[in-house]
This record gives sequence, C-alpha cells and structure tokens, in this order.
Amino acid sequence: MVTDFLSFAGLSPDEITALLDLADELKRKQRQGVEHHYLKGKTLAMIFEKASLRTRVTFEVGMFQLGGLAVLLETELGKRESVPDVARNLDRWVQGIVARTFRHDDVVTLAAHASVPVINALTDKLHPCQILADVQTLREHKGRNLAGVKVAFVGDGNNVFNSWAEFALHFPIDLRLACPPGYEGDAALLAAVRDRGKGSVLVTHDPGEGVKGVDVVYTDVWTSMGQEGEAAERNAAFAPYQVNANLMALADPDAIFMHCLPAKRGLEVTDDVIDGPRSVVFDEAENRMHTQKAVLVTLMG
Ligand code: CP
Ligand code: NVA
Repeated sequence: MVTDFLSFAGLSPDEITALLDLADELKRKQRQGVEHHYLKGKTLAMIFEKASLRTRVTFEVGMFQLGGLAVLLETELGKRESVPDVARNLDRWVQGIVARTFRHDDVVTLAAHASVPVINALTDKLHPCQILADVQTLREHKGRNLAGVKVAFVGDGNNVFNSWAEFALHFPIDLRLACPPGYEGDAALLAAVRDRGKGSVLVTHDPGEGVKGVDVVYTDVWTSMGQEGEAAERNAAFAPYQVNANLMALADPDAIFMHCLPAKRGLEVTDDVIDGPRSVVFDEAENRMHTQKAVLVTLMG
C-alpha cells in the first residue's frame, strides 16, 4: 500500500502504473467537466523551501478541483523548530503534506514523524512528481508499452535524472545520460539500476552517442536551485551538451523533446527546439496537475 510518495523506490511497478492510469482518468474527468471531489473537506499543507511555478500551482489547483484546500508555507525547515516537530504539528490539522526541500533527508524525516502522507515535491536528490508527469506524457505520445523506449537525458545528472534512474529500476526503459565528467548522478542509484533494474542505464560523455536513435531527448537546467554559485563553471562544462537542432537530428526522426521546466533558453536548449514541433514541454507541465491529483487521491482519499 502506498503511504508516502518520497521516491519511486518505495513503490511497486503495479502501484506506479495504477497512479498513471488514475491520472489518465482524472484528466478525462477534468476535461469533460465531470465532478471529482474525491478529497472533499480535506486539507493539504505545502512546504516550499525553494521557488516553484508548476509544482506549487498544480498542487494547489489540484486540491481545489478535488474539493479540498491547500495551505502554502514558504519556510526554511528546521530553523524555527525541528523538522519532527513541524511534522507532529501539521498532522493534527491536515491530511497530507507536500514538501520541496534542499536536503532529501528532511522529507524522509517529515515522513517518519508525520502520521499523514508526505509527498516529495523536489529535493536536491530526487523529483519523482516530475517523472510521473513525464511518463504520463510519454505514454500519450509513444504508447503505453514502455518496454525498450530509449530516453536520453542530456546534461546534469541531477534530481530529475536521478528520478528517471529510479524509474528504470522498475520499468524496462533504455536510459542514457550524456554529461560532462563529474556530473554522472547518484552513483548508488546507477549501481542499483545496473545490478537489479528492469531497465538499463548508460552513461556517456559524448552527447552524440547519448542521443543516437533515441525516442526522447530530455534536458534540464545546468544549474539547479541552490547551485547558483557554480553557474559560471557549470555553463562552461555543459556548453557542448546543449540540445539544439544538430543534436536533435541524431535522435530518431520521431523523437520528442522533453524538459521539466523552467528552461534557460540559449543554454541547455535553443528556442527552435523547445518551441519546435517535437517539443512536448507544456504537455508535461499540464500533466503535473493530473498525476499529482492521482497521488493526492491515492494517498489521502
Ligand atoms: N518542473 C518543476 O518542478 O517546476 P517548478 O520548479 O516551477 O515547480
Ligand atoms: N533540477 C532543477 C529542477 C527544477 C524543477 C532544480 O532542482 O532546480
């Protein structure tokens, strides 16, 4: 049974598929104007230590559409009171907690001390809500059978990439990371995929090799939130990894372009690619809402 959504590690493939199927159903209901107040009278607390557009708006609007209420807390966890005490207070008032934190351990601590479900809305290590929406989008564009789908992540082996790697633990996708040396993502996670993953992961420092013949070219910012001091060094290291028309030309002719957003146009991706016919970035953004509603209903319903 799903009790928290901190990562894909705690879920089975069937539970992940059930979330995706429910997201499809909720998307249909919302588009058809069918009432779906599955969380009537329920309240969600949303802790944000970092900025957000998509995650914050989609959780709040999603709770409203489900008949519930979301309360936003923009705060630095552990500063005014301990993280366990924040959890012990919140669970007297709300039926679920969403948290976007710097330290991944903080969402784990919240979950350990809260009796209500905790949802990871991005940490320095993982961003599972993003990948759930990406996979809903992938199923819409490439079909529901994910076996052998080739996904090239070009750029930083960051939180978004790590969640793709966790997904490859459970599903038989062919994941590739094309990154500069030193930016290979979480080593333990890569080892786990190689050791016992249903999917595979290849790390290369050659962007051309990474995207050759793939179905999906994915990228994210080169400098994540909290790394702003490293921006100059990162921009230099990642310059050869820009997703532009030349790189897209090496992918499968039907390949789609994905990005979690926000994008730094002109750095990790060029305008012609992100605004081009193969880009599905706003489908991904829309699907953040439907997939997170599925998570909320599953955990809090
Ligand atoms: N993709 C994503 O999580 O966007 P926000 O940072 O705007 O929430
Ligand atoms: N890797 C980015 C993702 C933003 C949604 C960051 O952590 O800033």
